[in-house]
Amino acid sequence: AESSFTLTYATMFNPPEELHTRYDEALARFKRNLGKDHGMIIDGKDVFAAEKFEDRNPANTDEVLGLFQKGNAEHANAALAAARRAFPKWSHMKWQDRVALVRKAADLMNDRLFDIGVVMSSEVGKNRMEALGDAAETVALFRYACDRMEINNGFTVKLGTDPLIGFESTNESVLRPYGVWLVISPFNFPAALTGGPTASALVAGNTVVMKPATDTPWTARLIAECLRDAGVPEGVFNYVTGPGSTLGQALIENPEIDGITFTGSYDVGMKIYRDFGSSRWVRPTILELGGKNPAIVTQNANLEDAAIGITRSAFGLQGQKCSACSRVLIHESVYDQLVSRMVELTNKFTIGDPTDRSVYLGPVVNKGSYRDYQGFSEELHQDGHILTGGKILIEGEYGKGYFCAPTLAELPFTHRLWQHEMFVPITTVGKYSDLNEAMKIANEVSYGLTAGFYGSEDEREWFYDNIQAGVTYGNRPQGATTGAWPGFQPFGGWKGSGSSGKNSGGVYYLQLYMHEQIRNRVR
Ligand code: ALA
Repeated sequence: AESSFTLTYATMFNPPEELHTRYDEALARFKRNLGKDHGMIIDGKDVFAAEKFEDRNPANTDEVLGLFQKGNAEHANAALAAARRAFPKWSHMKWQDRVALVRKAADLMNDRLFDIGVVMSSEVGKNRMEALGDAAETVALFRYACDRMEINNGFTVKLGTDPLIGFESTNESVLRPYGVWLVISPFNFPAALTGGPTASALVAGNTVVMKPATDTPWTARLIAECLRDAGVPEGVFNYVTGPGSTLGQALIENPEIDGITFTGSYDVGMKIYRDFGSSRWVRPTILELGGKNPAIVTQNANLEDAAIGITRSAFGLQGQKCSACSRVLIHESVYDQLVSRMVELTNKFTIGDPTDRSVYLGPVVNKGSYRDYQGFSEELHQDGHILTGGKILIEGEYGKGYFCAPTLAELPFTHRLWQHEMFVPITTVGKYSDLNEAMKIANEVSYGLTAGFYGSEDEREWFYDNIQAGVTYGNRPQGATTGAWPGFQPFGGWKGSGSSGKNSGGVYYLQLYMHEQIRNRVR
């Protein structure tokens, strides 16, 4: 499946026909590959466990995509031991050689873009463009980590020569890897959030154990295969699968880990920070957590841009992005007009099998999310006013999948669902009269990931200065709060949305995977 196709951010919004042809070809290959037993990768070898779990298609729950291993504590320990053994050689290798291997893996991944995309659509319910976008973003994150290493010359900086009595000493700062790194990734960006941290850790000289979400083991395996096929040595990266409660817990409790990147819920992230980050000694814990991302629209906004950007960000990937636009605050003078346009656009979104080229909304990821949607919808029916949606799309109408209608609901600002991250296709809207008041509401939440604004240029600068969020967008029709791209919109959150304040795909990110050593040399 060699391919020289380059997916850019621009072509994602205006896909050429060739993209669909390539995707269809990959889909046909994929259909011939269903139902296989996929191993873990430990110390370069495929490892199979006694117990397996099924990877099912959320758009058709009868379809078993493949079998994956229920890894246990033994596998966790074996993977970490392999990573520990591989660390001395990998970390002492010239950084240019590590960069070359990671670049090779990125090239392979780009060749396999469509195969990765098809697997992702089928595992997670991502539409074509969202799935290819995630795969292309992963390629970009790999290359970006390499770029930063090169631009910074391996993070070696000459410091001053200081005069000692009778001698002179030269000084140098070098950044060096920590050791063994654990990457725990979620279902919603199974390629980018597994691959991005892994590539960063590897380029920096750490060795890695990857533990993807149980909903998306296959996509993560395809990323791991790119590293293996590029020639990254045995044990330098390892890929293990299984439940967080057993495998994940066994990994975190093992003292062999020097750093963790976790992307997922606030509750689990904070627990990892307490149990891991502040035990033994202060260990680096990079957390990408939730979001409750607002869009604010003033009376001076271009309402068409706002309606398009907000609905895209609210319902892309069925609202299951940490960056999803889940709260909309609209000035009273334009409220009715904007809301009716948003309802119109929401009702136009096509729903169905996400591998179908005409489909925008696939299913939510699993039964838990399906039930969550149902519960929130009932609450909104009771306490608010549903403008559109609010129902599960029943079997028969859309097949045996977890399909939910995209939902816009009016709700008093005091309601708990203005604070709670729902992670399903539901967005609440509310009316404000005073912009300062709207900003206060936007900020009165424990998250601070992304935020969008539609209004005049002056208002927009005021918005940037006052909103508490790591990634902010002004007057963007492509997405009010979503669609960050490495190098252009480095991604990360404030407050309860993340730990580092150094966004991924940004100029300060790679440094998080290294600690500083000062080298003083006399004579
Ligand atoms: N990078 C993803 C977005 O910005 C999360 O939507």
